[in-house]
Amino acid sequence: MTWLITGGAGYIGAHVVRAMTEAGERTVVYDDLSSGFAERLPEHVPLITGSTLDADRVAAVLTEHGVTGVVHLAARKQVGESVERPLYYYRENLEGLRVVLDAVTRARVPSFVFSSSAAVYGMPDVDLVTEETPCSPMSPYGETKLAGEWLVRATGRATGLSTASLRYFNVAGAARPELADVGVYNLIPMVFEKLTEGAAPRVFGDDYATPDGTCVRDYIHVVDLAEAHVAAARALDAAPGRELTLNVGSGEGVSVREMIDRINTVTGHGIPPVVTARRPGDPARVVASAERIGTELGWQAKHDVQDMITSAWSGWTRLHPEAARTA
Ligand code: WQD
Repeated sequence: MTWLITGGAGYIGAHVVRAMTEAGERTVVYDDLSSGFAERLPEHVPLITGSTLDADRVAAVLTEHGVTGVVHLAARKQVGESVERPLYYYRENLEGLRVVLDAVTRARVPSFVFSSSAAVYGMPDVDLVTEETPCSPMSPYGETKLAGEWLVRATGRATGLSTASLRYFNVAGAARPELADVGVYNLIPMVFEKLTEGAAPRVFGDDYATPDGTCVRDYIHVVDLAEAHVAAARALDAAPGRELTLNVGSGEGVSVREMIDRINTVTGHGIPPVVTARRPGDPARVVASAERIGTELGWQAKHDVQDMITSAWSGWTRLHPEAARTA
């Protein structure tokens, strides 16, 4: 099997390439390097640079490398930016997906794994989110992921393409410091940034209907997430015509305050957080039921929050050595 990983030079993509390679799968990466780094990839993995909007280039990669499966991760993923730039997000995330799917069906590639997101649920009012929980995305980013799932599903039903849409919950951690996420758009790096400045981490609202008043999320280690892609790829290989939509989460909720407390302990900084206004669009609780992925793929999360924070901190201090000194 040869798997094309679009967006494979990104934070999650590089972990998927690492896991697929270690599982013995041949991989090829297609990435525009707008936010990815070639250095994240093993020497032996071919990297072709290009946009998912370049239909000819995508088609050429599929044929030249004898691609037999695609893991489509290439997308823009900043929720806030998507609100300001919906046309850009729909072009990049939805038209980009359509171009890749069109090339995949023309080349008769049989398997397709799609990177979706818990953002498709919006503000679910349930203790555990299942794949049957109604989807009502709150951002253009989430909308592009839900519409993407519809496009993947419809293409599978029309052509026999075997598909899996993976709904990522809150991804954190790193397999190695040099593979860590360099973006500062999510809780853990945003807290790291404040601690590095010697400033107080911010809690965006503590008046939610949760045990400690702060938002609860389901954190998943990126290494576990990458393994879920290997399991999905193998499931599609084994049985053509599959149609899977799966939550990828731990099933456990952790609150913002708990996470910040854990981060203070791991980093040794210990700066108490300050409570600021709620961030618009934040649901009080989004925690996955991981039952279906367990049943369908035999997958479950293995790494805990401590490992996520510790490994993320190693990545952070590699790029911000001053952070370790002030601890
Ligand atoms: C987590 C919680 C914040 C920073 C988003 C996307 C989702 C996925 C993950 C791509 C929230 C709070 C944060 C801070 C805080 N991305 N917070 N202080 O919003 O759950 O999910 O990223 O797929 O699709 O929607 O993640 O890390 O931004 O926030 O209190 O300095 O931490 O309010 O409750 P989120 P997040």
